[in-house]
Amino acid sequence: MTHIRTSLEGGVLRITLDRPDKKNALTNEMYAALARELDRAEADPAIRVVLLDAEGDAFTAGNDLGDFAAVAAGKLAREDMNSSKFLSALARAQKPYVAAVQGLAVGIGTTMLMHFDLVYIAEDAKLTTPFVNLALVPEAASSWLLPARIGHARAFAMFALGEAVDGKTAAAIGLANEALPKDQVRARALASAQMLATRPLGALKATKRLMRDPQAIQARMTQEAEIFGARLKTAEAAEALRAFAERRAPDFSKIEN
Ligand code: COA
Repeated sequence: MTHIRTSLEGGVLRITLDRPDKKNALTNEMYAALARELDRAEADPAIRVVLLDAEGDAFTAGNDLGDFAAVAAGKLAREDMNSSKFLSALARAQKPYVAAVQGLAVGIGTTMLMHFDLVYIAEDAKLTTPFVNLALVPEAASSWLLPARIGHARAFAMFALGEAVDGKTAAAIGLANEALPKDQVRARALASAQMLATRPLGALKATKRLMRDPQAIQARMTQEAEIFGARLKTAEAAEALRAFAERRAPDFSKIEN
């Protein structure tokens, strides 16, 4: 089961994360499905706008930690991780992307937002990027794009301390367009997506092209992925993933570097 639902109406491809019992944690299969849908969106002239939203009380708890553990244990090859396909599709994106975010957006749930053109967020949503807590490094070119957006100090606190940013703050510091009561977020995002679908697509694509540098984004993603993949194999990451599975705090004090 891919846990990804899609619908196409009025030029808006709506992609919905649908794994609410696991806080929409993204499995390898879900990444592949997301990448496929984004590729379809770019190729299909009937699709003018992409809207991403999520079922349940969380946007996404980020990468499925079971899949990270499988890579760490050598059961899933790094080359078979489909997250890079999804991220590359985001880097290549030409059509406008809109996101509706409620609840938790952990890790890639936050970093993917750097690649969305309009973001609507619940006032009480929580954006976190606890990569260092997991002994990992940022991805999705966020090591570059997040500090560029919100400044080094705040970005470092998010990456290294796992500090959360709530929805209201996210809108105030330029991570989102608007913070709303959570029951209004998806409708607001849909309305904006529908509005974008009425705009001239050629001009939208040309504007988006002028606003970002896909080659530089992809280059940073590749650089991050190499370090991220190597870090998954470290004793630090093994301890962090074991701690999550055992529902305890990790202890890095005895691991030498
Ligand atoms: N990967 C796999 N499963 C996950 C998950 C993830 N990233 N996040 C949550 N889940 C699962 C939990 O294991 C649990 O499954 P279970 O009901 O079978 O036990 C279920 O989703 C609900 O999560 P739970 O931890 O009970 O909810 P919570 O509200 O107490 O906490 C989180 C939610 C997101 C704060 C917590 O689950 C968490 O810290 N998850 C890991 C987030 C993370 O580090 N992501 C990777 C970032 S790079």
